[in-house]
Amino acid sequence: MIDRGVPWASAVVGLILVFAIRYRRGSKADRHPLPAIVSREFEIGWTAATIFLFLFVFWWAASAEIGAYSVPRDAIEIHVVAKQWMWKTQASNGAREINELHVPVNAPVKLILTSQDVIHSFYVPAFRLKRDALPDQLTETWFQATKTGTYGLLCTEYCGTDHARMLGRVIVMEPEDYARWLSAQPEGDDLAHQGERLFSERGCAGCHAPGSTVHAPDLAGIWGRPVPLEGGRIATADAAYIRDSILQPGRDVVAGYRPIMPSYAGLLSDGEIQALTAYLRGLGSAPAVARTPGLP
Ligand code: CUA
Repeated sequence: MIDRGVPWASAVVGLILVFAIRYRRGSKADRHPLPAIVSREFEIGWTAATIFLFLFVFWWAASAEIGAYSVPRDAIEIHVVAKQWMWKTQASNGAREINELHVPVNAPVKLILTSQDVIHSFYVPAFRLKRDALPDQLTETWFQATKTGTYGLLCTEYCGTDHARMLGRVIVMEPEDYARWLSAQPEGDDLAHQGERLFSERGCAGCHAPGSTVHAPDLAGIWGRPVPLEGGRIATADAAYIRDSILQPGRDVVAGYRPIMPSYAGLLSDGEIQALTAYLRGLGSAPAVARTPGLP
């Protein structure tokens, strides 16, 4: 079968040859420049105006984009775990929901998303909000609802048989109603407490507790701080870094330590990693009292 591009390519090459021969040097072709229709000043002004117009539109779009991605500091944090085929959400006080998300009106809400299996995408058309939920990675987004009501939540990344049924709703409430709703939720153990329990139950404390005889980084005050890695790179101890350190501890070893920590991939669920992260975060970012070598 002849490639369908061949006739087009032949036409283009043919035209190049025709023009090259027809207008070659020495031919009798008319080489006078086109008569000037507008003044040079006009042309320069027009070009400059166009450039400024485009720069203005670029600045406008870029600042809107940056604003859309920078999460306000006081945002309410909600962890979202997607799985085939449902949305599981958890507020930082431990209130859990499935396929529903209650939020207060006029308050910024930050979503920290991940997936338990394949790629999903969190989509609330009414909020113009769309963010992928990826396995083994955290993504973030935020929104601020401006009207109370119930809004559709969809999965917008094909994720298998029931992708089209992976639906939920976002319920935007008056702040007082939200507070009442939140307090009526079953006494969920808050994330940081779950994390504290896991920290000792799953053996993290065996090496990372301050008095441990194992030479491992003391994690008190680690949150948000720079961490020097072997090879000179500096990482920041944020949620993504902590997650990577738990799942792939051998990849980026903290400077001054040996790569002895085993991977916890498959041993800890996404929810458990979120809980551990909340616990470490709760330990604060103040400088640790007893500094361990290798930690800033
Ligand atoms: Cu989940 Cu499509």
